[in-house]
Amino acid sequence: MQGVSRMLQLVFLLGLELGLEGALPPPCDSQIYCTGELLRQVQMAKLFQDDKHFVDMPLTKAPDQVLSDFNELLHSSGGNISQDHLKTFVNEHFKDPGEEMETWIPEDWKPSPKFLQSISDSRLQAWAEDLHNIWKKLGRKMKLDVSNQPDRYSLIYVAHPFVVPGGRFIEFYYWDSYWVIEGLLLSDMAGTVKGMLQNFLDMVKRYGHIPNGGRVYYLQRSQPPLLTLMMDRYLAYTDDLTFLRENIGILDLELDFWMRNKSVNISHEGKNYILNRYYVPYGGPRPESYSKDQELAELLPEDARESLWSELKAGGESGWDFSSRWFVGSNYLFDTKISRVVPVDLNAFLCQAEELLANFHTKLGNTNMAQNYLAAQAQRKAAMKALLWNDILGSWFDFHLETGKQNRAFYPSNLSPLWAGCFSDLDTVRKNVKYLEDNKILTYSHGIPASLQISDQQWDFPNAWAPLQDLVIKGLADSGSAQAQEVAFQLAQNWIRTNFAVYQKNKAMYEKYDISTDTGEPGGGGEYKVQEGFGWTNGVALQYLARYGNRLTSRSGPMLPSTSWLLLALLLLGLFC
Ligand SMILES: *[C@@H]1O[C@H](CO)[C@@H](O)[C@H](O)[C@H]1NC(C)=O
Ligand SMILES: *[C@@H]1O[C@H](CO)[C@@H](O)[C@H](O)[C@H]1NC(C)=O
Ligand SMILES: *[C@@H]1O[C@H](CO)[C@@H](O)[C@H](O)[C@H]1NC(C)=O
Repeated sequence: MQGVSRMLQLVFLLGLELGLEGALPPPCDSQIYCTGELLRQVQMAKLFQDDKHFVDMPLTKAPDQVLSDFNELLHSSGGNISQDHLKTFVNEHFKDPGEEMETWIPEDWKPSPKFLQSISDSRLQAWAEDLHNIWKKLGRKMKLDVSNQPDRYSLIYVAHPFVVPGGRFIEFYYWDSYWVIEGLLLSDMAGTVKGMLQNFLDMVKRYGHIPNGGRVYYLQRSQPPLLTLMMDRYLAYTDDLTFLRENIGILDLELDFWMRNKSVNISHEGKNYILNRYYVPYGGPRPESYSKDQELAELLPEDARESLWSELKAGGESGWDFSSRWFVGSNYLFDTKISRVVPVDLNAFLCQAEELLANFHTKLGNTNMAQNYLAAQAQRKAAMKALLWNDILGSWFDFHLETGKQNRAFYPSNLSPLWAGCFSDLDTVRKNVKYLEDNKILTYSHGIPASLQISDQQWDFPNAWAPLQDLVIKGLADSGSAQAQEVAFQLAQNWIRTNFAVYQKNKAMYEKYDISTDTGEPGGGGEYKVQEGFGWTNGVALQYLARYGNRLTSRSGPMLPSTSWLLLALLLLGLFC
């Protein structure tokens, strides 16, 4: 109980900081999927290899019935249920995960989308077609019973079908969907994209925010805020102003949520700034990783456990679960203190959302709203420049709230303000390129690692992730600097070569890659085995194949730039003529 009162105290303190009245009730109070003795007993008995398995299982009976049957079992066994009895109980009261959805072949999927023709390397072209085909495997539709009897499912009902990441991730995920959507638009699947957007907008209407993923146990946290950008990409493809007009108020609401629940006042060298952080004021183990969170917490004194759990949930919210990036004081997961960090990428995403919302409101004639967003963005840019930018090192860095210092370690997210178009002057671009060179990032020939720190965590060296390639590459590619554009191409070529080589070997795409081997391999580390699919990896690969189709090659090994081939050809021609 000491832990609980400590947690209340913590919530209260942080609540004051947020201008809240006190502790909040958690957004999910399901005594099966989110909290309670049944969840604890089943997860700690480790009936399944992955804790996510259990909390994804639909009920065979109404939740009240399941709970009363469980309480009866608990009493009859004197509080200590044997593993066999638990197994029998789960078999009788739960169904296998995934039964609540069916595979769905998107209606707007058609063979051979236009962009394939722009890919000159025939092996890459054939592979791009395979990637386009994978959308048919990743499409999901919910069965109607999820809508009719929602309390028998942890799945959150959404009306429109969607594309999932793949592997253990059988529901929709928030930030993954941005890269999926970029890929779907290249595949000319704007109808599917509109449905996915509608689902997210419905979440904001229903819950005030978008959960990490489509399960009730994800309601306590969100994920990197990319909804406004998804809308922007959809509009660029369709020019569907009616859809924008219908939903602009919901986009405003989502941004309000980030400002109301996840902003922080920072006073630094006599000035006050407001920036954002990942922050989840709810304790308890994550239901989908319950036994791991419980066992990790047991390494700490009891009064530190609730705050560890809220930090782990905030780690989930960042999308980087987990990384040495969030460790403070040691190199151990239990030193995750992400609420004390002002992350570059989160603020870059919001800086971009503010600009896009200003554009949207301008299009719709809402001048005042547009001006408010521009003013908010100007404030944020000034804060980012003052606290996150480092002019000597030529990059932005995460800012630590307690020390008032920047974390100087390399992460691809450090360059996300360029990606977001929040800063784009040539001097900044030049410094960013030099920053990559100074950190020898261009020497990693299989992709940009998540960090240069080796740890057991999956968002660290030697893993490389598709979205993180994008956070570096797109900003450079869209810049006005020819040198930066060339660096962007080389980085994209490296990534494509790794994705392609591993695909040739395993006929699969992965959520992450290990770049420390000769060829690149599926990644490892973290809380679960590497997953196949894979939504965002496919989306990013399709983007590079479309963007650089006339230059990319499937050949492995270091290459001569195409101009060198031309010179060589001319030379040979000279010799023989
Ligand atoms: C529960 O039972 C197991 C073995 O059946 C035993 O090892 C354990 O100590 C018991 N726990 C409690 C709290 O009684
Ligand atoms: C966000 O903060 C509001 C109070 O301002 C609270 O009612 C709501 O539950 C919070 N949402 C989440 C998901 O924490
Ligand atoms: C920041 O400070 C301002 C003024 O002092 C206050 O109105 C606001 O609620 C504070 N915001 C947060 C997130 O603490």
